[in-house]
Amino acid sequence: MAFSNCYEDAKRAAAYAQLELGNTYYLVFRDLPEIIRGHVSGTKAIDFGCGTGRSTRFVRQLGFDTIGVDIAPEMVAKAKELDPTGDYRLIKDDDLSGFEGGTFDLVVSLFTFDNISGFLTKMRLFRDLGALLNASGKLVNVVSSPEIYTHEWASFSTKDYPENRKARTGDVVRIVTTDFADRRPAEDILCTDESYRELYERSGLEVVASYRPLGKPEEPYPWVNETTIAPWVIYVLGHKPAK
Ligand SMILES: C[S@@+](CC[C@H](N)C(=O)[O-])C[C@H]1O[C@@H](n2cnc3c(N)ncnc32)[C@H](O)[C@@H]1O
Repeated sequence: MAFSNCYEDAKRAAAYAQLELGNTYYLVFRDLPEIIRGHVSGTKAIDFGCGTGRSTRFVRQLGFDTIGVDIAPEMVAKAKELDPTGDYRLIKDDDLSGFEGGTFDLVVSLFTFDNISGFLTKMRLFRDLGALLNASGKLVNVVSSPEIYTHEWASFSTKDYPENRKARTGDVVRIVTTDFADRRPAEDILCTDESYRELYERSGLEVVASYRPLGKPEEPYPWVNETTIAPWVIYVLGHKPAK
């Protein structure tokens, strides 16, 4: 059976629209401002896989003129409802040709590649996203670490899916978000660090930096494993220098 995007669903979109920047997600939103400030100049950004616009609004608040794009009509509709003056666009078949190549300072993708199946599809998308960047532009790709699918977290549970432990890169893994009421698991695709690095290499991208943020005991969240195991990986990517 073909893998389907579990976000093309009105109930899931409504649940997702309630998500804020706390609990396990906080680790990403805590560190992104400094990471982006350290690697990116300019103000033109695109948020690939914007969902209901949480990440788009976050990047916009950092001072970027940001367009959110997504393939799920339900998610884009919710984003527009929550933020009528924001720029959210539904992209059909991941066709990014409507955007001028080589002009973006920043492309962000937060938790989007977790839902994309197929090595070749991911490679095509990384190439297309890289082509949007100007010469010094950066792609910031935030993904789940493989460990997220085998542990418990402030925002997630995976205990009902022991089969996740046997998953290899490219396999479906399941995870429940406990931050909202929709307890149906999200179906993600496991992708290891090694696979991501191969994908970047083959898509003409270079890893400029990578981060695995951990929680700190003094933070106001009910950390479970977050202080010792990183649930997220943040990759900062640039164009691979020409040889
Ligand atoms: C986990 S949500 C993250 C949403 C948002 N970035 C955030 O942080 O709140 C992942 C989003 O990626 C979108 N997505 C999945 N596959 C995609 C694709 N091939 N192209 C564009 N968006 C995609 C889904 O529709 C969903 O809205």
